[in-house]
Amino acid sequence: MGQRFIVLNSADAAREIFLKEPNATITAARPSTFFGTYLQDNYKDVFFASPNPKWTKRRKLVYQLLRTYGEGLVNIEIQIKRNLIGLTKEIRTLNGQCIDPGTTVEEFILNTIENLVIGKSTGRDSDMHRILKKFDHLSNDLAHVGMDLLYSSLPFLRFLPFRNSKKIKEWFKSKQQMIETFERQGQVCKNNFSLENKDFLSSTRSPHVVRFIFMYCHFNINISQFSKSLQIYFVIAYLTTRGTLLSLIQILAKRPELQKSMQNEIENVIGSIRQPALEDKQHCPLVEAVTLEILRYISHGAISAHCASQATEIFGVPVDRNTPILVNFWAMHHSTTAWQEPFSFRPERFLDKDGGLLPPTDPVRKRLLVFGIGKRSCVGEIFAKSRIFLFLATVLQNFTIMEPDDGCLPDLLPREMESSGIILQPKPYKVRFVLREK
Ligand code: HEM
Repeated sequence: MGQRFIVLNSADAAREIFLKEPNATITAARPSTFFGTYLQDNYKDVFFASPNPKWTKRRKLVYQLLRTYGEGLVNIEIQIKRNLIGLTKEIRTLNGQCIDPGTTVEEFILNTIENLVIGKSTGRDSDMHRILKKFDHLSNDLAHVGMDLLYSSLPFLRFLPFRNSKKIKEWFKSKQQMIETFERQGQVCKNNFSLENKDFLSSTRSPHVVRFIFMYCHFNINISQFSKSLQIYFVIAYLTTRGTLLSLIQILAKRPELQKSMQNEIENVIGSIRQPALEDKQHCPLVEAVTLEILRYISHGAISAHCASQATEIFGVPVDRNTPILVNFWAMHHSTTAWQEPFSFRPERFLDKDGGLLPPTDPVRKRLLVFGIGKRSCVGEIFAKSRIFLFLATVLQNFTIMEPDDGCLPDLLPREMESSGIILQPKPYKVRFVLREK
């Protein structure tokens, strides 16, 4: 007999189920997957684990750490801005040449992730970057739904010499290398600080691994376990942001007028000299609307999976324990009932008649659930949005993104994005970053 699934296709349905008890708690579980069982240490991480007291503690800690960034914790903002100065310099040296922006964007993201975790970036072509990049791309391939279905049904396949089984081996190797690097870093931090040391508390204001280590020591979780659970954030943080930034660059290159309006907004709010800061975000409604619209338009985390931890009823339909509940973000954000011309990129849908950003309570904003909702919503939302804003504002303040000379940049069409991994990515393309006159 086939497996029964519940699929939630609208934001209203997701709000009803994930925000109202008892279903909010019952549906916060994750279904059993090959990736979670065999590759993620039997669900000992935040993403794949179903709720239990340890999961709650871990999620809270991660949330605290990432939120501090969004609230403007000054030193990580400084580090990100420093990375952006490096990025701007690098693009400048390219002198408007036609390039694939993939590598530049990837380096920026890896630098910011390293800053968050170890408080510094090891730089382009470092071992750490190489390992992180390989690990992230392999994870994207392996967490794919098709691959998961096959290997969940026949887990012994991982021991046979197929292409994907080889990828699993490589994945384990990269994961081990990552864990060892974090453990080394964590041990150094732990040796340098003691919990009795009053200065330690103030030193933990620095938003990198030291802070994590403190929290993990405090809550009695060992460094090895901590390092193991940490790796999943790199994958999520890398793939989601990579997809978003590369999509933004491609779409803006095809829309010079939109770019001009965004540059005017940046010019009015920030000027052409001062580096964009997080506090500028609230004064740049057009940049914000473009960010919301790209997230809706690509919906690159197209589906997420929950399951019922006990028998319940969903909209009057009886649901057995362990029934998978799929949240179809793709359908939610491309439905013609919820959105006018869902496959057109129209940032103005998030603006009011005076050009202000619609408030989160507006019915249009409430239909946008790119970060999920309820007990399993994205813990990295603020971190992600802040990083996207700083990137976008800095790039547009300095450059105009243009099509290649031969004008052969294809339009970004969500239905034609690379779908070989769990997070959709734009296909490789080339653009030019032309320095603006100041
Ligand atoms: C554009 C950027 C991002 C998007 C669109 C996004 C979207 C999502 C979505 C849709 C979910 C699943 C919600 C559900 O299952 O109902 C999720 C979960 C999650 N995200 Fe994100 N995310 C982004 C960036 C990030 C970043 C940068 C991090 C970490 C630094 C992160 C960490 C997580 C974690 C840990 C979970 C699992 C939460 C749980 O299961 O309790 N995300 N995200």
